Formats: sequence, C-alpha cells, structure tokens
Amino acid sequence: MTKKLYLETVGCQMNVLDSELVVGSLRRQGYTLTQEATDADVILFNTCSVRQHAEDKIYSALGRLRHHKKRHPDTIVGVLGCMAQKDQELIRKRAPQVDIICGTGQLAQLPALIEEAKKTGKLQLALSLDRTESRHDVERSFESYDPLRDPSMRPSRFQAYVRIMIGCDKFCTYCIVPSVRGPEQSRPPEHIAAEVRQLAAEGCKEITLLGQTVNSYKFDYGDGRRVRLSELLTQIHDTAGLERIKFVTNFPKDMGDDLLDAVRELPKACPYLHVPAQSGCNEVLKRMKRLYTVEYYREMLLRCREKVPGVAVSSDFIVGFSGETEESFEKTCDLVRESGFKNSFIFKYSPRPGTKGHEMFADDVPEEVKKRRNNDLLAIQNAVSLADHRRHIGNTVEVLVEGPSKNANKRETASGPMQLTGRTPTDHIVVFDGNERLTGRTVEVIVDDATSFTLFGAVETDEFVGATGVANDEELTPIPVASRWSLPIV
Ligand code: 5AD
Ligand code: SF4
Repeated sequence: MTKKLYLETVGCQMNVLDSELVVGSLRRQGYTLTQEATDADVILFNTCSVRQHAEDKIYSALGRLRHHKKRHPDTIVGVLGCMAQKDQELIRKRAPQVDIICGTGQLAQLPALIEEAKKTGKLQLALSLDRTESRHDVERSFESYDPLRDPSMRPSRFQAYVRIMIGCDKFCTYCIVPSVRGPEQSRPPEHIAAEVRQLAAEGCKEITLLGQTVNSYKFDYGDGRRVRLSELLTQIHDTAGLERIKFVTNFPKDMGDDLLDAVRELPKACPYLHVPAQSGCNEVLKRMKRLYTVEYYREMLLRCREKVPGVAVSSDFIVGFSGETEESFEKTCDLVRESGFKNSFIFKYSPRPGTKGHEMFADDVPEEVKKRRNNDLLAIQNAVSLADHRRHIGNTVEVLVEGPSKNANKRETASGPMQLTGRTPTDHIVVFDGNERLTGRTVEVIVDDATSFTLFGAVETDEFVGATGVANDEELTPIPVASRWSLPIV
C-alpha cells in the first residue's frame, strides 16, 4: 500500500525549494502526494515566521486537524521550517498533537524522524542551535540541505530554484530570518554548477539562484581565492540547455558594479533585480539597521539603470515600522513615485519576538494607520507599475511559457488557442493566446495592452499557435497538472 503525504507550504522561495526537496526525499521512501490532509498518512506544514499572519495560518490549520488526529492517532503531523526553529515550546503548547518539529537546517533528517515518530509515538525534535552559541557550532547545526533532486516535484519542469547560500548576517532589526535560517554560508561554486548542469540536462531552461542576500554570495577557498556572484554567473552561464538565470533577493549595499557588469554582459543573466528598499526615510532605515541611506539607494538605482540598460527593478517595503511618522511615510511614497519599480511587495510591520526591533522599539503605529499606509503606497506603486507596463506596448518581448493562465479554462477548445501565461527576462507576466503545447517554449510576443500586473499580447508567428504547427511534439509535452503545486504564498 502506498503511503500518502500532504504538504502545505507558506512563505518565500526558499521554503518552496525546501518543500521540493522534502517531497523528493519522501517520494524515494514510497510516499505519493495527496491534496487532502485528511487522506494522508503524513501531514506536514512548511512554515514561515516573517510575519504573525503566516504563523496564525499554521496554528489555525493545526487546530482544524486536532479532531482528525484524535480519530486517527496513527497519522503523523509535522511542523517544519522557520516556525519550528523559532517556537518549539509554543507549538508544543498550542498544538500538542504534533509529532515532529523540524527546523530549516534539519530537513534532511525528516524521513528518519517520521519513522521514529511512527515507531515510538513520541514527539521528535530536530532543531539547529540558536545564534547565541559559537558561530562555528551554529553554522554546523544549520546543515545545508541540497540532496539529489526530484525533477517531477518542481513547480514546473522548465524552471527551478537553486540555493547558492543559506542564512543571513544582516540582522535588520525587524527581521527574524537570521535567527531561524542561521548564519550566512555560501555553497561551493562547483556544487552549484553541478546542480545547474543536472537541472539543465533534465530540461530546465530557467534557474533562479536563491539567497536571502544573494548578491552577498562569496565563497572563499581558503587560499586567497574568492568567488563572488558575478563570477558564479560567469561560471554557470554556458551550461548547455540553460536559457535564463535569475537571482533573488539582493541587498542594496552589496550591489557591486562587477555584478551589474556581469548582468549586462552575460546574455542569459536576466536584467531583473529585486532590491528591497524597505523605507524611503533615513530615520526609519537607521532604526531598521538597513546600513544605507535613501540617498545611497537612489544612487544605486541609477547605477543599476545606467549599467544595465532596460533593467527592471522591484522592491519590498514595510509600512508602519516603529516610529514611522506621516512625514517618514511621505518620504517612502516619494521614493516609490520616482523609482520606476516594476512592482513592489508592501507589508505592514509585524513585530517579531526575538528580533532587536521588538526588543528596542514600541510597535507604535496603530493598525488602522498601517492599513491606510499600505493601501496608499500600493495605489502609488500600481500607478508606477502601470506606467512601466504600458511602456512595453508595441514591443516584442521574449516569453518563457509557463502554461495555461489561471482564467484559461473558459477559453479552451479542442484544437484552438487558449490563454497562456509566461514571463519575460525582466520578470514581467505576459498573457496571450496559444496552444498549451507551447508550455516550456520561449516565444516572441507582441505586446498590445497592459495593466499594472500583466502585459497582454499575441505570439509573433502563426506557426506557434495552431495545434499542429509545432515542430517537435515530444519536446513540448505539457507537464501533468497534478505535479504542479498550488502554493499559498503569504
Ligand atoms: N514585518 C513586516 N514585514 C517584514 N518583512 C520582513 N520582516 C518583516 C516584519 N517583521 C518583509 C520585508 C522583506 C520581506 C521578505 O518581508 O519587506 O523584504
Ligand atoms: Fe531579513 Fe535583512 Fe537578512 Fe533580508 S537582509 S533576510 S530583511 S535580516
């Protein structure tokens, strides 16, 4: 009898990748995925601690499972990832039915933990050291988890994440990541290159290199040689079959000219930079300990645009951080108005116990004010995004087709075109009509309309649209829908 696994993931791309690896390793133990928690032998939650809201979602999901676990005591319930690392005591108190609590650095142990929980019926704990211990010991306790991958478990066959570093040493005062993901550690370039080669050989066309501060990547060989992200991009660039390399997330202070030159010079390096500003006000940036001023950020933005013509830049902002006045908020609005960001992710400040911000500053901006600022900043960004998107109307853009768009089903016919979606090298989302068989292909699309979120267009040649107009059927076989995950990203 097959064993069934249910896995719910919240959070960032790092969590999506961790989940892919967890599923890969459990499939090798004979598990198959199910979409229904109540059908599963093992129910896992891969969690996020960046904001309270993400944690609340997991506690309510665990609450809903309480009865099910009572009636089916053999079902194993596990909490994985950032929340597990941060709050083992609280999880035990609020969800005593949980069998496994496993931190981000211990995921490789999961198959063994599941077996042990089944055998003993006892709670299994696997957590890394907290950052008060010696750096060497803490680093060792966050073992990197990049085992052999299972291509069928990726969100798409043509795209994959590749972790190039773990952890973070920046300690922005609002952020829990340095505690739950541990010290910054870069992977050896050879390991990354080998993984990229394997992915490309399996048909992967686009890889996204992941790091909390990906442009801080540095690998020291110990003999004076050091590889930075710019050189890593050069090293993996010529991988056969690979078409696109993206990388997220960048830290503004580490945006070196060498990296911008590499992005300009290397055809496969995508001209897309996610560089969160967080605030446009120096006092706030200082309290956040972001290590730069808004003047520096503006100059950096200019440098990005000068060095990489046509580059698209996106950002993150936190509104309502401790001590943010109307005046400070207005400065953030000014930055967004003039930035030309492709898009921004905007978050209301959520104080995180365990961070310096929580310890040192009061959460003194009322929820109503945070909400209003969030909406106001979003409206400004939407207008900026619309202007950015409209600039592409009339242009031909190169789109890596990801598959049918979410609203596609109504338009599907037996042989005719349906609505497809994909992304440009600048990470713009494009929706256009075409055959589902185009999934995984790179096509040229002429843009004829735009909203704040999407470009609309038509494929350049008819050759691609018709059901029989495609040269190589095998190459274009769409991936089964069941192997795509729907991931509730918070
Ligand atoms: N509250 C709100 N947003 C946060 N982020 C990180 N920590 C917090 C917090 N405590 C946001 C930042 C970061 C993004 C991933 O999440 O904008 O760039
Ligand atoms: Fe958090 Fe700052 Fe590190 Fe980003 S750079 S993960 S915001 S501490």
